[in-house]
Amino acid sequence: MLGAETTARANVNVALVKYWGKRDPALNLPATGSISLTLEGLGVEATCVFGVESDRCTIDGDAAVGPDADRVLRFVDLVRSEARIEARARVVTTSSVPKGVGLASSAAAFASLAVAVSRAAGLRLEAPALSALARRGSGSAARSIYGGFVEWHRGERADGRDSIAEPLLAPGDWDVRMVVAVTSTARKAVSSSDGMRRAATSPLYPAWVETAERDLAEARRAIAARDLDAVGQVAEHSALKMHAIGLAARPPLLYWRGATVDCVHRVWALREEGVRGYVTIDAGPQVKVLCAPSDAERIAGALRGVPGVERVLTCLPGRGAETRECP
Ligand code: PMV
Repeated sequence: MLGAETTARANVNVALVKYWGKRDPALNLPATGSISLTLEGLGVEATCVFGVESDRCTIDGDAAVGPDADRVLRFVDLVRSEARIEARARVVTTSSVPKGVGLASSAAAFASLAVAVSRAAGLRLEAPALSALARRGSGSAARSIYGGFVEWHRGERADGRDSIAEPLLAPGDWDVRMVVAVTSTARKAVSSSDGMRRAATSPLYPAWVETAERDLAEARRAIAARDLDAVGQVAEHSALKMHAIGLAARPPLLYWRGATVDCVHRVWALREEGVRGYVTIDAGPQVKVLCAPSDAERIAGALRGVPGVERVLTCLPGRGAETRECP
């Protein structure tokens, strides 16, 4: 039986130990596990109802067309086949990630879609199954089902059923901040999927896969101990290692701009002065800094002063995906 119209919300997450490479591109199965922090207030709300005349998708107020619409409707098809229904769907997604912040919201989008579309299709999935479903839309979306610190397991199975996320610490369990310095809001030239394909050509890629388990164990231990310096050090190492793979790939890949490099040096200079901030960078030029709440304002102020930085946001640990069924 079809479910009611359902609205769900999920937040973006930033990886501390990165996902960079797939063992199965069709199922978005990662070559390694990863660990992230979900961020409050940077989210996507998705509403879905089945039983309409034809499939329709609206993204941020506009009728979606092209690759963005295709990606959402492919995801709806996947849920339809799991629910064994044929009904057409209306899907509306609205992002609360401020426009022009240059933070990819696909993790939040597919986590909120996993919840809204599966419920509207009449499925009642628990969080692990929602995580596996969200992963099919965008790998990192598997982690946005949960709040706080989250680990996404690589899994061993070919069907991916064990490649799911699990929470390590709830958002209220450890008060940290993530300061985000936006250095460019242009759409990225190389998508994360293309970047991962290119990474596989790098002679550094086997070392990435080989050392992943060590990084994950270090991050897990540090998070359990709420040891900011230990988490920060492994996070910075994982991010720089991920970008080093790109430099050695063919063709090469470099997501950074000049301001990205200047932000890294600014954070490192602050560290010399006793400010405990650690850098991470995803498939784009923005710099994210994990730090204690007491250091966030100092770091944000310093990054605002770096030429080329357009905007700086400070985020708290965020909640996982939540649902709201309409009467
Ligand atoms: O989920 P995707 O396909 O957008 O890939 C995310 C890749 C990184 O953000 C660079 C790393 C990560 O673990 O989130």
